[in-house]
Amino acid sequence: MDNLKINVLFVDDEPNILNGLKTRLYKMRDKWNMFFATSGNEALKLISENKIDVIVSDMKMPQMDGATLLNKVQEMYPDTIRIVLSGYADYEAVLRAIKVTHQYLSKPVDTNLLIEVVEKNLNLKKLLNNEKLQKAIIKIQNLPSIPETYSKLLSVLADESKTLKDVAEIIKYDAALTAKLLQIVNSAYYNLETPITNIEDAVVYLGLGLICNVSLSMEVFNFKEKVISDFYNLTKIQKHSINVACVASNFFDDNKKKEDAFVSGLLHDIGKTVMLKELPDVIEKIDGIIKKSEGTITLLKAEEGVLGLTHAELGAYLLDLWGVPYEIINTAMNHHIPERINTEKLDLVHIIHISDAIVNFLYESKEIDLEKLDFCDKISKTIIEKYNLKEKIPDCIKMAQQQIELNKKSF
Ligand SMILES: [Fe+2]
Ligand SMILES: [Fe+2]
Repeated sequence: MDNLKINVLFVDDEPNILNGLKTRLYKMRDKWNMFFATSGNEALKLISENKIDVIVSDMKMPQMDGATLLNKVQEMYPDTIRIVLSGYADYEAVLRAIKVTHQYLSKPVDTNLLIEVVEKNLNLKKLLNNEKLQKAIIKIQNLPSIPETYSKLLSVLADESKTLKDVAEIIKYDAALTAKLLQIVNSAYYNLETPITNIEDAVVYLGLGLICNVSLSMEVFNFKEKVISDFYNLTKIQKHSINVACVASNFFDDNKKKEDAFVSGLLHDIGKTVMLKELPDVIEKIDGIIKKSEGTITLLKAEEGVLGLTHAELGAYLLDLWGVPYEIINTAMNHHIPERINTEKLDLVHIIHISDAIVNFLYESKEIDLEKLDFCDKISKTIIEKYNLKEKIPDCIKMAQQQIELNKKSF
């Protein structure tokens, strides 16, 4: 068989559905080797004989259902991309599938959408041209949250007087849960016309039952850091991300834009959490390089040296694989190289970059005289010049400093 082609396996107990897919996907025959199975057992046999890149499975099937099949595939072939294609809008099934699926599609699926989802996931895999990284990211079902979120969430969930809004108010500050809930709500399973980018809407849409299950049953809180690092520490990353989120949202007056900026800020460094969870050996190396260089090698340079890419790309790849809205992926991807986004007006990517730079600057500079302040050298000079920001930076820094002080009292 042609090695340049990718292997895609479709599983459905209804032969008619498989025949329909065969006909509609005939045009992909030069790029895809397609396999079709009418049961979980047949699918597992095919996977054991062929290296399957992507599996697209129905949920409701006799003998072995889709969730069980995908669970087995995840255990035995963790680097196969797993997509659900289901017409079975059952709450239990969705919940079970959440743990083992990268993306959901609902029947009847538009052929072009199906092709797009499969290709997009594969391109991503190719971009991550490093088997270790591919495996690390494809394997991830959840990212860790800090234990404080867990105890807060438990007490709100146990208190009947609390509302969905109160639950959202806790989840909103937690990057791992936010990313997971955005993945679920934006999956094609829910058929939304416009993507949901903020957690308040996601929480209302998904409902308390699903939120409870996702939050409390997925081991997001049972995380023990395997390495002690100055640069990758879950609590520090969480605090930093909340500060960036709050500062970035202060740049806007419009509520929707405020919320988008908040979520993008919260998730911009999620790649660091990915590394913390899956690549502790890499973190040790990076830590060693920075310490040995006595700070002359930056974190980004060290990451690039060891991984060939940075936490920015890693985070963006995970968010992309999870089907999180593009805007959020874009800010994660480009927050350290904002020049890549060459828009006429200041873009959200630039705002996240500026907020990130200022928050870092304020953390690293011990004494800052607000009256004498005129610049923050961590902000890209190109961005400052292009968007005429020089005069505005001191006010932004003052605003950020007040915000950080405020956050110190709350977090
Ligand atoms: Fe970053
Ligand atoms: Fe950052």
